[in-house]
Amino acid sequence: MISYYGELCTKMYESDKSLADGKELDFYLSFADRKDISVLEPMCGNGRMLIPFMQRDIQIEGFDISEDMLKVCIEKGNINKLEPKVYYQKIEESSDWIQLEKRYINNEWIVISKKAQYHKEQSTLFTKLKYQVVTEDKIEKTEIMDFPLRLYDVKEFENILKTNGFRHIQLHEVKDGYGEGNHFHVFECSLTELNNE
Ligand SMILES: C[S@@+](CC[C@H](N)C(=O)[O-])C[C@H]1O[C@@H](n2cnc3c(N)ncnc32)[C@H](O)[C@@H]1O
Repeated sequence: MISYYGELCTKMYESDKSLADGKELDFYLSFADRKDISVLEPMCGNGRMLIPFMQRDIQIEGFDISEDMLKVCIEKGNINKLEPKVYYQKIEESSDWIQLEKRYINNEWIVISKKAQYHKEQSTLFTKLKYQVVTEDKIEKTEIMDFPLRLYDVKEFENILKTNGFRHIQLHEVKDGYGEGNHFHVFECSLTELNNE
């Protein structure tokens, strides 16, 4: 069976590379010597760096493509009474988070950020949305949502409807939907004859 940083590899890694310390850790910590920054660790694996950072109250989150490594990272964090904010992601697909807005709901601030990548061959915009509860600059909770959107050309979508037996296809433009200034399209169509025909 082929795997990448799979269960057994992770076990071996964890057995002698569980938590960083000494000069190596000091080297990485030297880049996070301010309290007002948050750190992103791509390829965080089993949290060898991420957990010692958290133990020093440094805001850090990480991502990795190995579910086994991420599982160990979370479990190890929990044993140390920490809740690592780690998630599955390929480094090739990572781009910077852009903060969209911050809203005060039921006595807490929720910050929404997004990052997006357009895959031309699939005509799809792959967006990730990140919702975070932030209290006094501390991230209390993180929720990541995958939000892929397949983008259609108007004619392409019309053809799909026709191929599926729809008729009387009419395209409407909805103005100010989801708030002022936004507009989107809605297709009206029918499978049966219209009454006035
Ligand atoms: C040698 S480990 C390092 C883990 C940790 N940063 C440390 O210092 O111990 C390499 C990690 O990179 C992850 N990785 C490899 N290729 C990746 C990719 N394309 N995207 C995200 N993570 C990746 C692996 O799953 C593995 O957990």
